[in-house]
Amino acid sequence: MKFDRVKSLDAILATAKKKSLNRSLGAFQLTMLGIGGIIGTGIFVLTSEAAQKAGPGMMLSFILAGFICMCAAICYSELASMVPTAGSAYTYTYAVMGERLAWMVGWALILEYAIGASAVASSWSGYMIGLIENLFHIEISPLWVNSPSAGGYINLPAVVITLLITWLLILGTTESARANAILVGIKVAALSLFAILAIPVMNTSHFEPFMPTGITGMAGAAASIFFAYVGFDAVSTAAEETRNPQRNVPIALIASLAFCTIFYLLVSLGAIGSPLGAQPITGADGSILAPGTLALEQRCRAIAATGTQDPLPCSHEALAHVLRSIGWTRIGNLIGLAATIALPSVVLMMIFGQTRIFFTMARDGLLPDSFARVHPRYRTPHIVTIVTGIGTALGAAFLPVGTLADYSNSGTLFAFAMVAVSVLILRRTDPTRVRPFRAPAIWLFAPLAIIGCIYLYLSLDLIAILVLPVWGVIGLLIYYGYGRSRSYVGRGIEVSDSMNS
Ligand code: ALA
Repeated sequence: MKFDRVKSLDAILATAKKKSLNRSLGAFQLTMLGIGGIIGTGIFVLTSEAAQKAGPGMMLSFILAGFICMCAAICYSELASMVPTAGSAYTYTYAVMGERLAWMVGWALILEYAIGASAVASSWSGYMIGLIENLFHIEISPLWVNSPSAGGYINLPAVVITLLITWLLILGTTESARANAILVGIKVAALSLFAILAIPVMNTSHFEPFMPTGITGMAGAAASIFFAYVGFDAVSTAAEETRNPQRNVPIALIASLAFCTIFYLLVSLGAIGSPLGAQPITGADGSILAPGTLALEQRCRAIAATGTQDPLPCSHEALAHVLRSIGWTRIGNLIGLAATIALPSVVLMMIFGQTRIFFTMARDGLLPDSFARVHPRYRTPHIVTIVTGIGTALGAAFLPVGTLADYSNSGTLFAFAMVAVSVLILRRTDPTRVRPFRAPAIWLFAPLAIIGCIYLYLSLDLIAILVLPVWGVIGLLIYYGYGRSRSYVGRGIEVSDSMNS
């Protein structure tokens, strides 16, 4: 079954074998890498959005999104063990379903990585400003922190942090395994502290009504909170640098996801049971207001003006705010500090991941050569890093975190579904190929991943749903206008598929 030009699996594997990267990562470090990519804005910030969309039912949203990601991770595990290369979903699709779909996956990964980085940068300013206001009692005008849709001019701190990280990446600063381990330690300690302090004092009456917005609201929150799990796929891009990848990559993918799912459930339990509760905020007419809108922002300001505590959906620094509400002001500030320190590392990883994908696509001839050009002094792909940094900064400057996360999710859901489709097709077209990790019950998990991704995609807000096809059409125009005639595979030139070769 051939759809299009295919980059042969044997050629990809031969390249990977030739490269002999240093295989230094074990299951533990790889799991830490996964957790480092996963824990971020989703749990630290989007908990507020999830509460506004689903109320206490957000616990089910966390379970649903986590389960779908787990099914996708099982598919990733089989492919990453068979094709341990850095290109991840893009490379798998190229080998199984051909160039056009691979291009579409690579194009969708821009939403996952670059727009995902915008979301994390945008949310970072909420924690940073909250920390400054609480520690130094300085009022900062929301006009320079909020996006235009929430009544501001621009999210200035988000732009500054994005450009700073872009600059660091040009200089060649990427996270070392040790720096990552420290940041993971900070994030896990912050979430553990939160759970330890919030769960014992929770008020179970706050769980009623449990699903004020019904199944639709719960699914809408799951589609947004899906962002909290994104990042585990970073593990598959490190397959080439892993000892015994057939064993360690599946372990790390599944362990990091399982670990985060448990933590997310504990944290949401504590947040819902706090004095703030998690009930959605309604407008004057009793309707539930959409997150990230001016109407919700104005309602939140009106509540704040009465001197009562901000409800959970109003907070831009959800976890710190919950702890302050139960009397742990200093620890709340500490959690704010942990998020302020740790979130930029997620931005860095996502921009880095984006440059890696662009680089791989340029190496395949689908993007201009300049995207694969390396700085003579710093040895980093500076052009592609600058392009990504500017795009990410623009997104973070003018769009609210929830909107950006939803746009990012629409691309990620497409990529995950394509990985699940690839794994099934490969079982049929190449059944005898060695599968170092043969996923159990693949005919159950892969279809569940595909159906789950489609369900979450359709549960996104309408504009986020439309982003994917519009983005896809732009991508196809570029592919037919530029990439198709220049593709190395199309011209019969086999090239390496990774920037490390
Ligand atoms: N999962 C990552 C986060 O929540 C992208 O920030």
